[in-house]
Amino acid sequence: MSKRVLLIVGGGIAAYKSLELVRLLSKSGIATTAILTKAGAQFVTPLSLSSLTGDKVYQDLFSLTDESEMGHIELSRVADLIVVAPATADLMAKAAHGLANDLASTTLLATDTPVLMAPAMNVRMWLHPATQRNLATLKGDGVTFIGPNEGDMACGEYGPGRMAEPGEIAAAIRKQLGALDAARPLAGKSALVTSGPTHEPIDPVRYIANRSSGKQGHAIAAALAALGARVTLVSGPVGVPTPPGVTFVPVETAREMLAACEAALPADIAVCAAAVADWRVADAGAEKIKKDGKDVPPLALVENPDILATLSRHPFRRPRLVIGFAAETENVVPYARAKRAKKGCDWIVANDVSPETGVMGGEDNTVILVSESGEETWPKLPKTEVAARLAARIADHFS
Ligand code: CTP
Repeated sequence: MSKRVLLIVGGGIAAYKSLELVRLLSKSGIATTAILTKAGAQFVTPLSLSSLTGDKVYQDLFSLTDESEMGHIELSRVADLIVVAPATADLMAKAAHGLANDLASTTLLATDTPVLMAPAMNVRMWLHPATQRNLATLKGDGVTFIGPNEGDMACGEYGPGRMAEPGEIAAAIRKQLGALDAARPLAGKSALVTSGPTHEPIDPVRYIANRSSGKQGHAIAAALAALGARVTLVSGPVGVPTPPGVTFVPVETAREMLAACEAALPADIAVCAAAVADWRVADAGAEKIKKDGKDVPPLALVENPDILATLSRHPFRRPRLVIGFAAETENVVPYARAKRAKKGCDWIVANDVSPETGVMGGEDNTVILVSESGEETWPKLPKTEVAARLAARIADHFS
């Protein structure tokens, strides 16, 4: 099953319908993990839920066994969608106000996974201004709703408050998962991105570096993650913040960067945006080099490993799409084409980094995308926009 729903079963007579919902989801190839609230357990048993989900049912916020298997924070991240069915007036109120005093409400507060609620409650409770306020707050927070339907209620009254039927909820889930897929075309793909400069030590206090800020590489990592890719960002020392939702591996030297990249394989996509130092000092001293008043120290340099070329020519774990950058100050396109051939990568993002362009450290970039099928010049764009376009092109490539 490629999709998973985290189903929170609240306390209401409609809870029995959630069992049918799990069965319908499973028929559509959607797996379910369930959280059963204390009130929910008055209506369905953990055993019937777990028999249908084929998984453990989570009930306690402070369960030592559960926490050692899967912490409640992690639990909130395992699913593509969180579904609250039945969503009681109490659960809606807690979620609207950010309360977190049990496993269900803590999970709802601790997640950035989309949430779908299927309310079920007495008609007066549903129409009460407090519930309607909570409904508006939750909608404003991005929660989507299915139902409630109008009809005879278990309590003998008539009106809106009946939980939507399992078939309707399952359809809403499939629709929402489909929409999520469309917005996350790189879901299921893994990407490795290098960023920033490298620092090559001369001695314990001095190093060779360059002017790379990491802005472009970090923006690419963020853009790929936004499209659903699992991103590992390997970066030299930078002052820009780590984008949310990526695995960050900080490194200093080119050799450390290469080791971190190799450890991050296999990956479907590799984007080498780092400005890797071409050379390092042959014998970086363990002690600070002192002036002796006579000679300047001879700095013998040796060439660093080429990370882009290593990934492009990896004998058994070459990423399916390898993209390099070409930082040039003249003859941008011919040099970029030559670099693409020399390093064996699929695409090269070429840019002119002459000081007058302000690219190094700046906010904007003007790039030319060089691929097998030719060159494409993009207009001058903010680096975040270059990243978004590149991520979209990558998604197109895999679609
Ligand atoms: N690159 C790399 N490892 C290196 C050097 C460069 O992975 N040791 C990658 C960069 O991340 C970039 C591409 O290679 O994607 C080209 O980098 P660039 O600095 O433009 O080219 P160099 O290979 O350094 O060649 P030159 O400096 O001679 O232009």
